[in-house]
Amino acid sequence: MCGIVGYTGKRSAMPVLLSGLKKLEYRGYDSAGVAVNENNKILVSKRDGKVQGLIEQIKTDENVDELEAAHSGIAHTRWATHGPPTSINAHPHPGPESKVILVHNGIIENHNSLRQKLESQGNVFVSETDSEVLAHLVESCYRGNLLEAVTEALQQVEGTYGITCMAKDEPGKLVVARRGSPIVLGLGEDETIVASDASAIIRWTRQAIYLDDNDIAEINGAQVDIRSLTSGSVTRTPSEIDWSPDAAEKGGFEHYMTKEIFEQPETIRNTTRGRLDAERGTSILSGLNLSPRELVDIQRLLIVGCGTSMNAGLIGEYAIEDFAGIPAEVEQAAEFRYRNPIVGSRDLVLAISQSGETADTLAAVREAVEKGSLVAGLVNVVGSTIARETGRGIYLHAGPEISVASTKAFTSQVSVLLMIALKLARGRRLSQARGIEIVQEIKRIPELIEWVLETNDKIAEVAQHYTNYQNMFYIGRGYMYPVAMEGALKIKEISYIHAEGYNAAELKHGPIALLDENMPVIALANKGAGQDKTLSNVEECKARSAPVLGVVTAGDKESADIFDHVIEIPDCPQYTSVIPAAVALQLFSYHVARLRGCSIDQPRNLAKSVTVE
Ligand code: F6R
Repeated sequence: MCGIVGYTGKRSAMPVLLSGLKKLEYRGYDSAGVAVNENNKILVSKRDGKVQGLIEQIKTDENVDELEAAHSGIAHTRWATHGPPTSINAHPHPGPESKVILVHNGIIENHNSLRQKLESQGNVFVSETDSEVLAHLVESCYRGNLLEAVTEALQQVEGTYGITCMAKDEPGKLVVARRGSPIVLGLGEDETIVASDASAIIRWTRQAIYLDDNDIAEINGAQVDIRSLTSGSVTRTPSEIDWSPDAAEKGGFEHYMTKEIFEQPETIRNTTRGRLDAERGTSILSGLNLSPRELVDIQRLLIVGCGTSMNAGLIGEYAIEDFAGIPAEVEQAAEFRYRNPIVGSRDLVLAISQSGETADTLAAVREAVEKGSLVAGLVNVVGSTIARETGRGIYLHAGPEISVASTKAFTSQVSVLLMIALKLARGRRLSQARGIEIVQEIKRIPELIEWVLETNDKIAEVAQHYTNYQNMFYIGRGYMYPVAMEGALKIKEISYIHAEGYNAAELKHGPIALLDENMPVIALANKGAGQDKTLSNVEECKARSAPVLGVVTAGDKESADIFDHVIEIPDCPQYTSVIPAAVALQLFSYHVARLRGCSIDQPRNLAKSVTVE
């Protein structure tokens, strides 16, 4: 996820580009850059760090007057996917002779083969990004008409993009295209503003056209010509943006947390894209950097993380043992280095961290490296300390997570762990046929999430019955036990209701003493192993007057009837049902917290990245 801005029109482009970047900084903030076309001369300024750094850099640029005089330009704020956050990897990226230049959001999946092809034609790349490959490709197709060049280049591209390009010899003109990454055109009187979302344009205009996938547009001032890469000319009707500037930044949602919850179908697509091989029934995880031989040699998995990341790890433990038959253990990262853990060279330590900066997890990584074991990071923030120190791993590609309560990172972590379990299993006892089945199920995850998101209003209604309690239990068994823990953590942190996540079987070994009409029990009771036992435990709770809320499989009326209230999730295997169940509980926590008037995106006492032990 990155932010794109473009401008063509009568006024000076720079203020529009820079204010747009500021608004889009939530989409990525590791580097930023602009390029303008001033009298057939392309001028670029880019650097690592936040947009403010870029603004300062432009002020002292020797070409500041030209940079500020131009009437067309493109800009970008980056969230690194390929290549660390350096000024060289920052956008915009020019072609080899700087005839064209572009900004890109998305992932070019076949960038390796395109890079090789272009290198064989003599192209030399300066960055590690897939976006530079795209810039070179467009320039290789450029014969004086930018629209034609971009159209030709995009026919060769696999993956996702939102792009805005300029050509040196076509001042005032922008070519914009979209597949998978959003692009909105803001229509002004004598001008057009291009952006990844409406927050960057509503200061200038409220008339907008949202491009569809496969749209490509040529824009010059107020002139906008949109076509489809697949079906020729198209008409897109402008709409009026009625969001406040604050709402626009959150994509129209009231909070970042809901925005991020609703992003999950897209983030899981990004996490799994290019990593599933449906024919061979396996996953492609080149970032692990382990040969088939080394993978088979692994004798144990040790998963470390904190909070939500550790809960994802627990699901990973179940899947790894279930699919691959390799012993897997989860350890709180904070405990790891202080208790002299037993790890060796045939153990693979997976360090899970959204931020990649959590001090406890980092300390565990260092200890595991010291002890000579293989260590891989499952990290969201590219270039973060854990990503660098592990040197091998799998990025989540979930985009920046702004809300302090983690949502989309969790579901991406679980998806990556399922893919790791599959990879390890295929090198061992799992058949190709079963592998193919698992790939298909993982591919369904975005749909499963969409299904739950559509029930948001129902979940909000259910939440009304649970806002006035001081305590809650979340229970589940098997794969659903870590989901119970994650559900409890979520409600604790954003609604300040005390909640415990328990294995449903453990309830009777003590905590049941707490049950009465003031202690609701939220049970993960969807179809799958252990469901009947969990339902018996629910009966035990009811017998003690506890209000009971069930997360049940859609259509399972018999189970639903046991509960006071239910939240449904779609039917799917238990190893993927953890994701729709977790999303349902994220929405439940959100609505409870909202109804209690809590500060949802920034709960008290918490920080997004915990860099102290
Ligand atoms: C809960 C939450 C925390 C983090 C934990 C680890 O919503 O966000 O529990 O999961 O602090 O953070 P990372 O994943 O950045 O290492």
